[in-house]
Amino acid sequence: MIRLSLLLTLLAAFCTSSLLAAPEAPDFNRDIRPILSENCFHCHGPDAKAREADLRLDTFHGATTGGEFADPVVPGKPGESEVIVRINTDDPDEIMPPPDAKRILTTKQKTLLRDWIASGAEYEDHWAWVTPQRPTAPTILHLLGIDHERLTFRYQGRQFRLTDVHGKVIKDVMA
Ligand code: HEC
Repeated sequence: MIRLSLLLTLLAAFCTSSLLAAPEAPDFNRDIRPILSENCFHCHGPDAKAREADLRLDTFHGATTGGEFADPVVPGKPGESEVIVRINTDDPDEIMPPPDAKRILTTKQKTLLRDWIASGAEYEDHWAWVTPQRPTAPTILHLLGIDHERLTFRYQGRQFRLTDVHGKVIKDVMA
């Protein structure tokens, strides 16, 4: 019978492998819209009369074509996006939101905006207009077998085998 500690080692090795570690891009409605709406839309939102610098950040078109001097959002290129420059600068004349707006972005919010632009700056319709999606099946790891120093299981439709060879975990992807 396989030892519990070995079983845990094998599973830990699997879970830290790249298979499970695919980074998830920020989701517009969940992660990005709240930041923009709280901190930017007063001056760069749907209201044309309140709009500053001819820039609206509530649409993909506005965010990628608006602004007076630089490209506000360049999908896939946070380093070339003026939005990223403006939220990270220390210059009080440049920083967004402007100091008198009395709003300060947290480091986490800045990172989310950067990751979102890096992942392509995808906009989604407001949740109220998005047709509900069927929830995707929960991620379940089906244990198929444990025998001496070997663990077989199915995960996301594929079968894996983890073998412990002299303390080294070998991973096989089967069918
Ligand atoms: C209180 C109003 C206000 C808020 C809130 C605000 N901005 Fe601005 N923004 C301005 C003004 C005014 C300018 C034009 C002056 C300047 O360029 O600094 C500007 C300019 C910009 C520009 C440069 C546009 C160009 O012409 O190239 C970017 C990018 C920008 N804002 C991004 C943001 C982002 C991102 C947020 C939220 C995190 C934000 N702003 C929040 C008022 C605001």
